[in-house]
Amino acid sequence: MKTIQSHILSGALFAVATNALKNGLALTPQLGWNTWNSFGCDLNETVILDTAERIISLGFKDLGYEYVIIDDCWSAGRNESGYHIADATKFPNGIAHVAGKVHDLGLKIGIYSSAGTMTCGRFEGSLHYEKQDAELWASWGIDYLKYDNCYNEGEEGTPKISFDRYNAMGKALNATGRQILYAICNWGVDGPWNFAPTIANSWRTSGDLANVWDRDDVNCPCAEMEGLDCKLPGWKCSILNVLNKAAYYPSKAYPGAWNDLDMLQVGNGGLTDDEAVAHFSLWAAVKSPLLMTNVMTKIDAKTLSILQNPAVLAVSQDPLGSTPSRRWRYFVDDSGKYGHGEIQLHTGPLSGGDQLVLLLNAASKPREMNATLVDIFWLNGAEGTADQVQQSWDVYDLWGNRMSDEAAEAIIKASSSSSSANRTAGYNLEAMGGSKKVYSQTPSASSKMLMGSKVGTVRPSGTVKVHVPAHGVAMLRLRAKNQKDEL
Ligand SMILES: *[C@@H]1O[C@H](CO)[C@@H](O)[C@H](O)[C@H]1NC(C)=O
Ligand SMILES: *[C@@H]1O[C@H](CO)[C@@H](O)[C@H](O)[C@H]1NC(C)=O
Ligand SMILES: *[C@@H]1O[C@H](CO)[C@@H](O)[C@H](O)[C@H]1NC(C)=O
Ligand SMILES: *[C@@H]1O[C@H](CO)[C@@H](O)[C@H](O)[C@H]1NC(C)=O
Ligand SMILES: *[C@@H]1O[C@H](CO)[C@@H](O)[C@H](O)[C@H]1NC(C)=O
Repeated sequence: MKTIQSHILSGALFAVATNALKNGLALTPQLGWNTWNSFGCDLNETVILDTAERIISLGFKDLGYEYVIIDDCWSAGRNESGYHIADATKFPNGIAHVAGKVHDLGLKIGIYSSAGTMTCGRFEGSLHYEKQDAELWASWGIDYLKYDNCYNEGEEGTPKISFDRYNAMGKALNATGRQILYAICNWGVDGPWNFAPTIANSWRTSGDLANVWDRDDVNCPCAEMEGLDCKLPGWKCSILNVLNKAAYYPSKAYPGAWNDLDMLQVGNGGLTDDEAVAHFSLWAAVKSPLLMTNVMTKIDAKTLSILQNPAVLAVSQDPLGSTPSRRWRYFVDDSGKYGHGEIQLHTGPLSGGDQLVLLLNAASKPREMNATLVDIFWLNGAEGTADQVQQSWDVYDLWGNRMSDEAAEAIIKASSSSSSANRTAGYNLEAMGGSKKVYSQTPSASSKMLMGSKVGTVRPSGTVKVHVPAHGVAMLRLRAKNQKDEL
C-alpha cells in the first residue's frame, strides 16, 4: 500500500456565513427530483404530475423530499414583450397550472434556465432577460431555479465576471419578493465555492455526473483537482471523479450555501447496489443537494430502500450543516491511477457531539478497513482531539437497518393504486412531527430508523474496524458512550 496524500485542508470547519444569501432557504441541502437524467427533453405536464403523485404515494415526501424540478426544454421562445412562452405541446395548461397542482400536493416546483443566450438544449436562455424571467417565474409560483452556464457569450474567465453574470439573476429573483431557491450550475468555472456563497443556495462544483462508478473519459478532463489548474467543466464524469474533485473545498459550504456534486444517478441502471449505496452515502455526507432523477413509476425495491434510508438522510439534513473532510486516502492496488483503486476516510462532526465516519473502498475487492480515533478527530485540534480520543464511542452502522425488499415492494405495490403513502410499510416520520422536526434533533440512541444498528464500541485510543464491500462504503455514526451505561 502506498500513501499518496493526506490533505490538510483549511482548518475552517465552520465557515462564518457573514454574507450568505439571506433568502432563508436550503438551511439544509435541498431534497427533490429533477427531470433531466431520465426524461431529457421528453418531458411534459403528465411526467411532472405523475412523478409528484408518486413522491407522495411512495413516501418520499414524508422523508423530506420536497422539490419537483422541470429541467431544460420547457420554453418555446419569447413573446413580443420579451417574456418566455411555455411549450404548449408539453404544457397545454401552462406552467402556472402545473405549479398549482404541485403545490396542492404539498410539494414545491422548480424550473431551469441558462445564464446565456441559449440553454444547453438550445432553447431560450436568460442572459440580459433576468428581470422578466424572474418576474414571470414568480408569477407562475416557481420555488426553485437551476441556472446553467451554456452559451454565456464568453462572460467568464475571472471570478468577478462569473459572479456578475450569476448575481444579475440572484438580484432579479430577490426583487420578485418570492422565496426562490437559487441553484447555480456553472460546472465549477472560476471557483464558485469562492464567489457563489453570497449569491446562491448551491453551486455545481464540476462537470455533469454520469451513471457510472469510475471511468476515464475525454469529455471530463482532470481525474482530480490539482490546485485550481484543473479544467472542471465537462460531462460524463464518474462518481469517483466528481467526489475526488470535491475533496478540495468542503469548508466552503454552510447552511444556505452548498457544494452541489450534481444530481443522483441512483435507480438509473448503471450502478451495482453497493455502488448506488456508496453514491447516495457520499453525496449525503458531503452535503450535496440530493436530487433524485429515476423514473418514479418504474422504481424498484432496492432503489427505494436506498433513497429512503432516514439514517443517511438525517446526516444530509443534520442541523449543524458541517461538511466532513477527507482525512486520508491510499492506493490499495498500486494501479497508479486516481480513482481506480483506493480507500478513503471522510469524517466530521454531527449534531449532539456525534461524529460521522465514512470509509470508502473504491477498489475492486472487499476489504477490512479501519480508522483510529486520532484519524477520526483530526480536525478538532490537539486539545479536542485528546478529549475525544480518550473516551469510548458506540459505533452505529447507518445502513444496518435498511428497509427490506419486502417492505419496499409493499410500498411500491400500494403506490400504484393509492394517492397516499403506505406508512405501515415505510418509515413514518409524519407521526413524529414531520421530517423537518425529526432531522433537526439529534436522534435518540434507541431509534433504529435514524441510527441504523449498533455494531460495536471503540475503546479510548482505539480503532474502528469494519468490512467494506468492493466499490462500497461503510457509513458510521459515532456516539460518545455514556460512562453510566457501562456499569
Ligand atoms: C432579498 O435580500 C434581502 C437582503 O439580503 C433579504 O433580507 C430578503 O429576505 C431577500 N428576499 C427574498 C425574497 O429572498
Ligand atoms: C409525456 O411524456 C412521456 C415521457 O416522455 C410520454 O411517454 C408521454 O406520452 C407524454 N404524454 C403526453 C400527453 O404528451
Ligand atoms: C407576453 O407574456 C407575458 C407573460 O405571460 C404577458 O403578460 C404579456 O401580455 C405577453 N405579451 C404579448 C405581446 O403577448
Ligand atoms: C488497518 O488497515 C490497514 C490498511 O488496510 C492494515 O494494513 C492494518 O493492518 C489494519 N490495522 C488493523 C489494526 O486492523
Ligand atoms: C402497506 O404495507 C403493509 C406492510 O407491508 C401491508 O401489510 C399492507 O397491505 C400495505 N397496504 C396497502 C394498501 O398495500
